[in-house]
Amino acid sequence: MLLKTNISTKVPNNTMKTLDLTAASPQDQLQTLEQAFLTAAPGTEFQLQTSNPPDELLSTMIETYWGQFDWAPLNSGKPHWKTLLRKRGEPLADSLHEFMADDHARCDALFAQAEESGSTGNLAETKQRFQSFLTGMLRHFNMEEKGFFIEFDKRTGYRGGGPTYVMREEHDQLRGLLEQMGGFLDEGNLERYLSAGETMLILMEQHNMKEEHVLYTMADQMFQGECMELIKKLLRIK
Ligand SMILES: [Fe+2]
Ligand SMILES: [Fe+2]
Repeated sequence: MLLKTNISTKVPNNTMKTLDLTAASPQDQLQTLEQAFLTAAPGTEFQLQTSNPPDELLSTMIETYWGQFDWAPLNSGKPHWKTLLRKRGEPLADSLHEFMADDHARCDALFAQAEESGSTGNLAETKQRFQSFLTGMLRHFNMEEKGFFIEFDKRTGYRGGGPTYVMREEHDQLRGLLEQMGGFLDEGNLERYLSAGETMLILMEQHNMKEEHVLYTMADQMFQGECMELIKKLLRIK
């Protein structure tokens, strides 16, 4: 059964341009991407395909075009690393809330796409879409656990024992569920996959709501004027 959700559809769109950089040297990768990026209209999305992790490429782009694009991994591993890069149509706001809630919305939409494929019985497509959702979720958890939560705890003095402790516990629970869902797909059992997906949706919505209503809102007050620097750090986390 496909769940009715109220989640947004902020997701890689169908008009995304694919840049196959798998055979290009690092220098050519950068040159090709820069040419495409500079001539693209605001809002354009690229799917970069590389044979290796695109860390250097992204690092250079972040330094050179800071605040002008967002990126997110779609597949981290062989045969190809796939990365979404979106040329921003609006300036980056000094808001952790906006940045992180946008990423929630993006992951939510990837989840909904995988659910849709699952509900039509298309196993191969579900696997592919679930992989993008999984990659996005794990990266989001990393941005929080290795970046945002640490800075939040330093500022509040909670030292990992406050609200971020609860959020980390919930991440572990969600990671367990993600593993289960992946296992059901490996077995080809879409029914159990969709059933676990119902639990995932409920837990994910509750978790995201707590972060958006409490943590991110507090963060925007605490880091006022400094959010951009923190976002820059988060964007370097895989
Ligand atoms: Fe979280
Ligand atoms: Fe989050």
